[in-house]
Amino acid sequence: MADIDHLREKFLKDIKAARDLAYLNEVKVAALGKKGAVSAELSKLGQMNSDERKEAGQLINSIKQELISALSERQIVLARQALQEKLNTEKIDVSLPSRPSVQAKMHPISRTMEEISAIFSDMGFVIAEGPEIETDENNFTALNIPPEHPARQEHDTFYLQPDEYGERPVLRTHTSPVQIRTMRSTSPPIRIIVPGRTYRSDHDATHSPMFHQCEGLVIGPNIHMGHLKATLIDFCRTFFGLDELPVRFRPSYFPFTEPSAEVDIGCNRDGGGLKIGAGEDWLEILGSGMVNPRVLENCGYDPATTQGFAFGMGVERLAMLKYGIPDLRTFYDTDLRWLHHYGFMPHDVVGLHTGLV
Ligand code: DAH
Repeated sequence: MADIDHLREKFLKDIKAARDLAYLNEVKVAALGKKGAVSAELSKLGQMNSDERKEAGQLINSIKQELISALSERQIVLARQALQEKLNTEKIDVSLPSRPSVQAKMHPISRTMEEISAIFSDMGFVIAEGPEIETDENNFTALNIPPEHPARQEHDTFYLQPDEYGERPVLRTHTSPVQIRTMRSTSPPIRIIVPGRTYRSDHDATHSPMFHQCEGLVIGPNIHMGHLKATLIDFCRTFFGLDELPVRFRPSYFPFTEPSAEVDIGCNRDGGGLKIGAGEDWLEILGSGMVNPRVLENCGYDPATTQGFAFGMGVERLAMLKYGIPDLRTFYDTDLRWLHHYGFMPHDVVGLHTGLV
């Protein structure tokens, strides 16, 4: 029995001396583990007579219980200590200056295209797309601009290498070829809006070789000029957020529409500045017209039963007018200071009911 008392003393001392949980666990295994000292003592019981066994058994078990509670008390103390140490070393200095936050901004062109799309989506238009490398046929011929047509000269076209049939693909000079693609691949009714990139070999203060347009096309039975006018008046007033914005339709010419009209909005240039919505002056903002019967025929439609209207607008110009951006070239300068000034918070969702207008 001296042995067992000695073990008790030793383990209680070890438990007291434990400075961390890992060491305490070693003590626990040495004392109470399967191959530990207490188990070894218990295994000796088998060799004793029943009186001895009863006495020794009780003693060993009471020591076992004593060690178990000593271990768990010590464990609580050490765990608390470990937590305290962790809290001490992981202290946060709330007086430190914060890291500068880098806020990404949405480019005004992306924003303007989203705004235009949102307005037309609300009117039931869906978004259509086409490739930026187009066939001559889609970009020109099917739109009633044959090779000798003078309108071709106005589109300072970027031509690509001819293919094996001698056809020269082009970088699309406008979004109008998506009209052809859509009419040839679907059937009426059609109500699409086409925001996208376009290219012309033109570079000065008011022209960039890459720019953006938004095309619109509506095709169906009995579509007439009244639909065109109402749609575009509504668009202009919503886009600029001016219910009374004067909108004028001025006769014009485009090969793919007949009749054609350019759309002007009322503005005031008094005093050098430009104020949209009031005054005697007019500002052209988009082209439009009834789809030319030849274009309908080129797409396999019968102009006697199917009509439509189309329109196209320059996104840069609309963005400049709405957001007071004076120089077109700055859109593509990738100047972060400019973007911070003219850009939009990305999570400002564009929508008719969320402060778009
Ligand atoms: N494609 C014309 C351009 O780039 C814009 C345009 C005018 C598109 C009239 C149309 C339209 O759909 O009907 O200048």
